[in-house]
Amino acid sequence: MSIHNDIEEVLFTKEQIDEIVSKLGKQITEDYKDKNLLLIGILKGSVVFMSDLMRKIDLKCSIDFMAISSYGSSTKSSGTVRVLKDLTTDIKGYDVLIIEDILDSGKTLDHLRSMLKLREPKSLKICTFFDKPERRVVEDLKADYVGSVIPDKFIVGYGLDFAEKYRNLDYIGVLKPELYE
Ligand code: IMP
Ligand code: MG
Repeated sequence: MSIHNDIEEVLFTKEQIDEIVSKLGKQITEDYKDKNLLLIGILKGSVVFMSDLMRKIDLKCSIDFMAISSYGSSTKSSGTVRVLKDLTTDIKGYDVLIIEDILDSGKTLDHLRSMLKLREPKSLKICTFFDKPERRVVEDLKADYVGSVIPDKFIVGYGLDFAEKYRNLDYIGVLKPELYE
């Protein structure tokens, strides 16, 4: 059976996503003209966004990836970040732009930001495709680049998962509620 049957509602079509990503890429190209840009994609959620966004940036830039987990042994957010896969780049002197799929409570990015600051990048900014400000716990955490602000709904597709599935949808959707039970 097709995975599309599990989707109740499409929130962003691939055309809408493309438009958002193009706009972000254009803005980043402007802002990082005379800088030493390093894009850091946070695995796994940002993988689709990252690959689209980097091709909309008309600059010489570098990329790297990091895999982190914001959860300890329990399923409750511990607020501490565990590094599952570290960068291969020494970020000292780089103008680092963190690429995230979605900014929710802000705990993951808050800890990641503090961790990366210790490595002395020249600058450190955050780009997220989605922002759910209603869910924010870390008050002072704001992304420098936001694709779209969304209400508090659980979304899947375009890299975002539910129990590690649906990352491969080429649009953003909401799952049918019976699949959560
Ligand atoms: P937080 O900002 O530390 O609470 O966590 C953000 C992470 O939670 C993201 O990187 C996603 O992996 C996950 N997440 C939050 N909201 C959603 C959603 O609506 N769909 C899928 N994953 C989500
Ligand atoms: Mg996830």
